[in-house]
Amino acid sequence: MSKSVLFSKDTSPIKAIKKPGLKATVSSSSMGSSTHSSLYTPTLDYSSSYSNFGESPKNSSSSMKLNQISYQAQTSNGSPSFYASISASNSTGAASSLLNCTTSMTHFTLSDSPTLVNYDEKENAKNRLENLEFKTTVGTGTFGRVICVKHKEKKDYYALKIMSIAEVLRLKQTEHVKNEKEILKLVNHPFIIKLHWTYHNEKFLYMLCEFVCGGELFSYLRNSVKFSNDTANFYAAEIVCALEYLHSLSIIYRDLKPENLLLDREGHIRICDFGFAKKVYDRTWTLCGTPEYLAPEIIQGKGHHKAVDWWALGILIYEMLAGYPPFYDEMPFQIYQKILSGKIEWPKYIDLIAKDLIKKLLVSDRTKRLGTMKNGVEDIKSHKWFRAVDWEAVPYKKLAPPIIPKVVHDGDTSRFDRYDEDGWKDVPIVSAKNLEPFENF
Ligand SMILES: Nc1ncnc2c1ncn2[C@@H]1O[C@H](COP(=O)(O)OP(=O)(O)O)[C@@H](O)[C@H]1O
Ligand SMILES: [Mg+2]
Repeated sequence: MSKSVLFSKDTSPIKAIKKPGLKATVSSSSMGSSTHSSLYTPTLDYSSSYSNFGESPKNSSSSMKLNQISYQAQTSNGSPSFYASISASNSTGAASSLLNCTTSMTHFTLSDSPTLVNYDEKENAKNRLENLEFKTTVGTGTFGRVICVKHKEKKDYYALKIMSIAEVLRLKQTEHVKNEKEILKLVNHPFIIKLHWTYHNEKFLYMLCEFVCGGELFSYLRNSVKFSNDTANFYAAEIVCALEYLHSLSIIYRDLKPENLLLDREGHIRICDFGFAKKVYDRTWTLCGTPEYLAPEIIQGKGHHKAVDWWALGILIYEMLAGYPPFYDEMPFQIYQKILSGKIEWPKYIDLIAKDLIKKLLVSDRTKRLGTMKNGVEDIKSHKWFRAVDWEAVPYKKLAPPIIPKVVHDGDTSRFDRYDEDGWKDVPIVSAKNLEPFENF
């Protein structure tokens, strides 16, 4: 088992060894073990040990009232279009500053998007597990693994995310897993992985997604130590575009980091792992994410909203340019202290304009953080660091990717680390009663 682990009340944290550039070996669980080059402490979720972090969730009942949500997917001339508009107000009728960005109208027309609907219930019948030939594990995660599979009839490749239901229950992640499915079903964007179907039996939950063969941005970053200013700028632009889309649907992503960013065959970004993504109209209180990427308001338990994704973008841009994240330590607690102190060391080689943008994203006061103020994401897009970016062209994949993955076919798994393939099926069968929450999965 590797990099992403949940912390919750009844489980002791699985410790990841982490130092920039070092191999981290994390092993646990019945889903097998692996060695993975990772810098990060594991992804965490403190949803059930909330009281450790200041403010309790008793304040979480929202005084905000949702006035309007509208979402449409239209097709004109065969082009999928998306409209999302959300507004909300508090008891006095005043719009919340936290919601300023969601009040804007967002519109995407993706004429060269390959599919309008990525999730297809009907596929369930045709694409049952027995139609899939299991090839190679390309990732292991918190409660399962992701395997590259080949459809026996169609001959094309998919990524099958397999999660042990017993582990999901043990780690109290039922809601997160269901969120992951519902959100992936809903979204359709060129920089977000597509979900084809889900399925479950007495042991596992299955999610069949498109297979993104270029590998993790993480591997490219560690191999080249740090990215050039232009390379980082390209990935940041595609991520801004994807986050803008998610936020327009009131979805916060909450786990931005290079391990969850894949490259497609042409070198464009594909965000995977929606395990912590959530539809949020006001604020949410669950402490989850990856320590190095956590915004101060998450650590302080103040309640958080989409601003946490813009904070994480600041961390990511820093990490791409520096080769390591700005707040780093062996122990998560020290990481939190560094994040709260806000003190950042700036290597000389970081471009000064990039530094200006990162500083504006890593503002502790989320109401003053770039992306969360009156002009929303426009403040990020119009920052000088992005001056060469034609934002209209970005979702059409018109920017030239700086790295083109060396793969020979769509099912080539050579860009991924190798994982132990044995033993992962040996997990407990779950009782019919315990399967109930997953009835529709
Ligand atoms: N659609 C996909 N195509 C290719 N690789 C994938 C895909 N989805 C996930 N992976 C690989 O599997 C790893 C673990 O999957 P992820 O969804 O991030 O699980 P976890 O929630 O456990 O972190 C990812 O970091 C990535 O390397
Ligand atoms: Mg992940």
